[in-house]
Amino acid sequence: RLPRPFQVPLPVPPVLEPTLRTATTDYYNMTQREARLEILPGLRTKCWTYDGLFPGPTIVSRSGRRTVVTHRNELPQPTVVHLHGGHTPAESDGYPIDLTMPVGSAMSYDDAMAGMPEMHGSSGNLSHGQRSYTYPMLQRAATLWYHDHRMGYTGPAVYRGLAGFHLLTDDEEDGLDLPRGSRDIPLLLADRAFGENGGLLYPAVDSGMHKPGVVHSHHFGMMGDVILVNGAPWPVHRVRRQRYRLRFLNGCNVRDFRLELDPPPPGGRGLLQIGSDGGLLGTPLAHDSLRMAPAERFDIIVDFARYRPGTKVRLVNRFGSGSTAQVMRFDVSPSSRKPHDDTHIPKRLSHYPATVLDPSKAVAHRTFAFRHSRDGWTINGLPYKPGRSLARVKLGTVEIWKFTSVFFHSVHVHLDAFRVLSRNGKKPGAFDAGWKDTVATGPGETVEVAVRFTDYAGKFMIHCHNLEHEDMAMMADFSTY
Ligand code: C2O
Ligand code: CU
Repeated sequence: RLPRPFQVPLPVPPVLEPTLRTATTDYYNMTQREARLEILPGLRTKCWTYDGLFPGPTIVSRSGRRTVVTHRNELPQPTVVHLHGGHTPAESDGYPIDLTMPVGSAMSYDDAMAGMPEMHGSSGNLSHGQRSYTYPMLQRAATLWYHDHRMGYTGPAVYRGLAGFHLLTDDEEDGLDLPRGSRDIPLLLADRAFGENGGLLYPAVDSGMHKPGVVHSHHFGMMGDVILVNGAPWPVHRVRRQRYRLRFLNGCNVRDFRLELDPPPPGGRGLLQIGSDGGLLGTPLAHDSLRMAPAERFDIIVDFARYRPGTKVRLVNRFGSGSTAQVMRFDVSPSSRKPHDDTHIPKRLSHYPATVLDPSKAVAHRTFAFRHSRDGWTINGLPYKPGRSLARVKLGTVEIWKFTSVFFHSVHVHLDAFRVLSRNGKKPGAFDAGWKDTVATGPGETVEVAVRFTDYAGKFMIHCHNLEHEDMAMMADFSTY
């Protein structure tokens, strides 16, 4: 019933052209609409898309140039757009009740919040038909992504296709000879389940979206048996015997990956990490495998020149079984002539200082406990309530935040990236390097991070990026001043 793996060529989402460029600002338009996409060969799948695509079109911004994206909502339900990893003022950050109502719809805020009595009495900043999000982009080069963030319905909305890449470039990165163009490939990994007719299966308690949440057996999160990369099932990509930059994004609702190259290149350590969520690392870090929790990004160099001509290199998932144990395949060119490779991975990638996060300067310590309780998924025992802030943080100061957990949670903080100081009282784990905005926190684990928020006062979110947990209230506000 499932398609054979490694038949479909890897799609790469197109880069969106701005509608206008001024001296300071790039303007983009996107339409959110339903589309019937051929995901499984020969079948049509009704998706929710940005511009008719899954993943949505890629936006490429320049650090320091303002980017304004106007989203028109032609979907049947309200939406919210969040730029994940964006250093974004609160009014454009995609606060989950700042709904954009569908074009022409008469739906009220209370209609949109039916089934969430705890949301009544609050009111978001509503837009009708369309909304412009302004991103100042005062941040480093990094692999960001945008996705839906609607209160109670982020899981089903992203599952149906509302996710895309937003890449940010800067002078420091341009000064390096990293692989570019067709050898710089964003890869959105996502698992989905399909019905016989090709429709997406999502076990919502109410598929009409009048009540959030999944049926109880999927309470821990929704997993599918088909692994999609850039919207294609187990695709295949032909590569030359050269270095490639692969920007991995775990776009699953809940699935964790442990990625490996099979076979590994001779000598091993085939996955050379050059960046994490928040941009380039100081120095590259070589891995045999990569553990990726939902919403994490790993910027990886693979040098296919280390393989013999014609090698078929599978990207496998050691956390998966059966159909989910493999992800995609890279077919190395059979030509025995090795092409010249003018790329270079320096020992020093970035001079961006980590010293701004000196933990000895911390002015506050806070704990965020990710737990399950009678009320569902909670942070510090509390289900989400808009406007109830769990922390008031002074801009420009360093704080130490401790995340504790009794289950697998992918802890995400909006506004600014952080650095992991310790995991379970010991040094950070192998996948905690660099500037992060999302960190895997397993059962019984404690992860300590240093944070420092800058520039924008307002209310922002901290939440679990397991989207079913998020929808079932494992979110909190914090505010900056
Ligand atoms: Cu990627 Cu608050 O989300
Ligand atoms: Cu969670």
